[in-house]
Amino acid sequence: MKTKIWTVKMKTSLIMWLVMAFGACMVLVQFQVSSMWLFNAWKNGTGISLSFSKPSVHNTLGEELLQAAAEKIMLEDKIAANVGQKILRDLMIQMGRELLLMEACNKLTELEKVSLATTKSRRIYIITATYRRPEQIPELTRMAQTLLHVPNIHWLIVEDAAMKTQLVTDLLRRTGIPHDHLLAPMPDKFKTKKGPKPRGVSNRNQGLLWVRANATTGVVYFADDDNTYDIRLFEEIRSTKRVSMFPVGLCTHYGLSSPVVLDGKFVGFYDGWTVGRKFPVDMAGFAVSVEFLLQRPKANMPYSPGYEEDGFLRGLAPFEPKEIELKANNCTEILVWHTQAKKNPPSAALNLTRYSNTNLVRLNQLIV
Ligand code: UGA
Ligand code: MN
Repeated sequence: MKTKIWTVKMKTSLIMWLVMAFGACMVLVQFQVSSMWLFNAWKNGTGISLSFSKPSVHNTLGEELLQAAAEKIMLEDKIAANVGQKILRDLMIQMGRELLLMEACNKLTELEKVSLATTKSRRIYIITATYRRPEQIPELTRMAQTLLHVPNIHWLIVEDAAMKTQLVTDLLRRTGIPHDHLLAPMPDKFKTKKGPKPRGVSNRNQGLLWVRANATTGVVYFADDDNTYDIRLFEEIRSTKRVSMFPVGLCTHYGLSSPVVLDGKFVGFYDGWTVGRKFPVDMAGFAVSVEFLLQRPKANMPYSPGYEEDGFLRGLAPFEPKEIELKANNCTEILVWHTQAKKNPPSAALNLTRYSNTNLVRLNQLIV
């Protein structure tokens, strides 16, 4: 029994001794670590590095521990350097992007200056003929987003339709552009007639009616929904006193329709569709002042395909071609193009059984 107690006592004290010895070892190692590390910082492109001097006292365990710790720190240092480099690179890329953006903004500001300079000047009444077809909403979206850059306008959207198209109403409301959404269906007798149709005529005459009833000053411009407009054009025509004219790109096989200017003076017209017209110009190539229009209450657009512009301009008599005001830097710049979108056939019918309850049902309501 005594022997057993003695053995237990001996074991306890042995464990205590061992614990103390281990503690002493740890203190020794700690001391070695703290005295043998030399932090030697220098910049070498990858950041701060660490040097390690070998201990003079031989201690295998301590050395191994130190070696492992050193390797770990060196590895972390390497990772830190890599992370640092990555952050720096990302920062450079971001700064580059910001610079490009600033550059782009500066360019945009130059364009904006065009508009902002004349914000308080006369209002432009933009008469746009439009009709339901696959391209209608894309065309009007593009045009609306051009007009969003132009101050002091009133957009008269005139649909060749019996009822307003909800998608057009929604688009107009979204833009916030001051507008009136009007209807002017093409008379049936022209609709059913064979051959070329008087496109957009009822619409434009409806727009003219609105202007005569609602405006006393400003400028009228017939802007078809499918053309391309440089916003500088609107600042050019804003100062129209009576009738101004300017080049239109992508027009007829000449690729251009424009007044011909010699020594700063109008000398004729350049247009691939003359056909006896007194004013062989495109619908997008002229603007008229409201005051001048109001003095000519009979000026209207005729229902004669190919002669709409000429008929309207002749209706402004007394007015002669030589009296036109030349815009777009004496007709040396093209600020509007007679672009024509590819005509798309109506879309195929949607199989409502197969696709019921899918997004396609909604999308199908957005297309023609
Ligand atoms: C060219 C001219 O640019 C038009 O101003 C002119 O009315 C037309 O020729 C013509 O002489 O018939 P173009 O590009 O050939 O225009 O014709 P569209 O763009 O198809 O139509 C002119 C405008 O009328 C457009 O704004 C269009 O949306 C509208 N339109 C067209 C209708 O309102 N209803 C239609 O049935 C067709
Ligand atoms: Mn067109």
